Amino acid sequence: MAEEKALLSVLRKQVRSVPPLWLMRQAGRYLPEYRDVRATTKSFLDFCYSPQKAADVTLQPIRRFHFDAAILFSDILVVPDAMGQRVSFESGSGPRLEPIETPAQAQRLGEFKIEHLSPVFETINLVKTALPSDVAFIGFCGAPFTVVSYMIAGQGTPDQAPARLFAYRYPDAFAQLIDRVVEASIDYLARQIEAGVEVVQIFDSWAGVLPANEFERWSASPVRRIVEGVKARHPQTPVIAFIRGADAHLPKLTQMIGADAYGIDTALDPAWAVAQTESNVPLQGNLDPLVLVAGGEALDREVDSILAAFEGRPHIFNLGHGILQQTPIENVERLVARVRRGA
Ligand code: CP3
Repeated sequence: MAEEKALLSVLRKQVRSVPPLWLMRQAGRYLPEYRDVRATTKSFLDFCYSPQKAADVTLQPIRRFHFDAAILFSDILVVPDAMGQRVSFESGSGPRLEPIETPAQAQRLGEFKIEHLSPVFETINLVKTALPSDVAFIGFCGAPFTVVSYMIAGQGTPDQAPARLFAYRYPDAFAQLIDRVVEASIDYLARQIEAGVEVVQIFDSWAGVLPANEFERWSASPVRRIVEGVKARHPQTPVIAFIRGADAHLPKLTQMIGADAYGIDTALDPAWAVAQTESNVPLQGNLDPLVLVAGGEALDREVDSILAAFEGRPHIFNLGHGILQQTPIENVERLVARVRRGA
């Protein structure tokens, strides 16, 4: 029998002397081969909905760095796009959607049409057949708070003020939006699994802006409901929850969300995270994306310190947030060699 993929074994709580390694946003603009393929399609979402191209860029970082996992190339904002809130990306300034400013506008949002995302499932099919046998395949979605904050603001903001104001002013309408994204996300992740991904990750990139007593309501509980919904349909598929800015909530999250592993962001001290959570809970993270830009001895030192902090623990080596565009390729090579030094 073939040996179990390293990532999957850690998600089953095994400790490995060399942790499996992948990087959030590993397919992207820091790769010249990504920029070449990307240049062939004007609109970013059309690019995401082009199965051949999306499958190709999903595999690019695997070919170059032999990471232990491929992550589906898509975007978290395909979910509002499939609800009829059309999304566009303007180069250099990020996503743009028609903002939702009132409960009446929220009411007008369409049904979630999963057929709109059939190119994503086709991408998954293509990647599945081309993936090396020791590489795991990760699907993903955005967490409801993060997705809804783009839906309300209509763009990225530093503090998600429009969404937080909407939640204080119109808590019922806000809860309904969250519920709709919860339901759509369960369906979307289940379909990704049926098409061939082996693990799913939920990205709550903006949970950290919430005050403590809003955090559970708008971040942790909706994520828990997605985990429950996905597990009800696919009990064997591991789920990774990446709640950026979880901070002091981390121990409670690992008790309440029911995920198989938790992503740790750059700001958290790994030794604290290890000490504050049960010893068999797999943790993923948390190299500073900026030290990967800097490279050199600073990079070696930080990699070693993360490896040491998670030693003896089920650990997935990753960044604490997405890789930055200005990251030199040779630094990624250096990182891979350093993490796998003892292999
Ligand atoms: O990780 C991967 O390699 C898979 C692909 C992936 C993308 N976006 C591709 C992408 C994943 C997992 C995401 C998740 C995502 N998208 C998140 C959560 C993770 C995080 O980084 O916090 C968020 C908040 C988004 C929304 C989004 N998409 C923004 C804010 C932007 C613009 C910022 C930017 O980097 O330009 C995007 C665009 C985007 N998504 C790009 C890529 C490669 C860049 C667009 C391009 O190449 O033209």
